[in-house]
Amino acid sequence: MPMIREAVVTTIDGNGAVHIAPFGLIESGSEWIIAPFRPSTTLNNLLAVPKAIVSYTDDMRVFAGCLTGRKQWPTVPVADFPVPRLAAALSHAELAVDRVEDHAERPRFVCRVERIVQHAPFLGLNRAKAAVLELCILVSRLDFLPREKIEREIDYLKIAIDKTAGPDEQEAWGWLMQKVTDFYAAKNATATAGAQSPAL
Ligand SMILES: Cc1cc2nc3c(=O)[nH]c(=O)nc-3n(C[C@H](O)[C@H](O)[C@H](O)COP(=O)(O)O)c2cc1C
Repeated sequence: MPMIREAVVTTIDGNGAVHIAPFGLIESGSEWIIAPFRPSTTLNNLLAVPKAIVSYTDDMRVFAGCLTGRKQWPTVPVADFPVPRLAAALSHAELAVDRVEDHAERPRFVCRVERIVQHAPFLGLNRAKAAVLELCILVSRLDFLPREKIEREIDYLKIAIDKTAGPDEQEAWGWLMQKVTDFYAAKNATATAGAQSPAL
């Protein structure tokens, strides 16, 4: 299996409108692959403007926020590059699309790294940040993972939150847990409504 780095990708459309989305970038030798599932604004943008910024950030609120409708994260311009970076980036990489491997469900944009720039120091690993990332992945799979598995994994991840989270990680965790709660409440409501509807 290739190495995958979880980061935040910014792209622009033909009018310069900025789009932010978390992606798992797939390592392929010296290149990095962005693989968006269709439909995707990132995909459309990369076809229009084949450049992307990958922001490496440890602010887990950006990942959790993008999954919970909070997409307005500040960006700043990058010198000599058309796409801005995340203001919260510890470092960023400037990517140019070399080629597109087309696919009905998940095309792959194979990108070369033109430049990497550092903005702030990396201050070490933190279990709560990793736990928030794992909860992001679970939340993105609520539709098809069994509820028991989701709840079991949340119980385990919460140990790291309780022991090691700062205020930002607690906030990110709270947004994601609200989404889990809302998802199962809506599912129960649908099941109850179905059970109560008169048989035809
Ligand atoms: C850590 C993380 C990694 C993700 N990796 C991918 C990915 O590789 N491909 C993808 O299509 N979506 C991925 N997603 C989900 C996208 O961020 C989300 O679906 C996003 O809205 C992409 O669609 P968009 O380009 O229309 O914004 C990931 C989400 C998270 C939190």
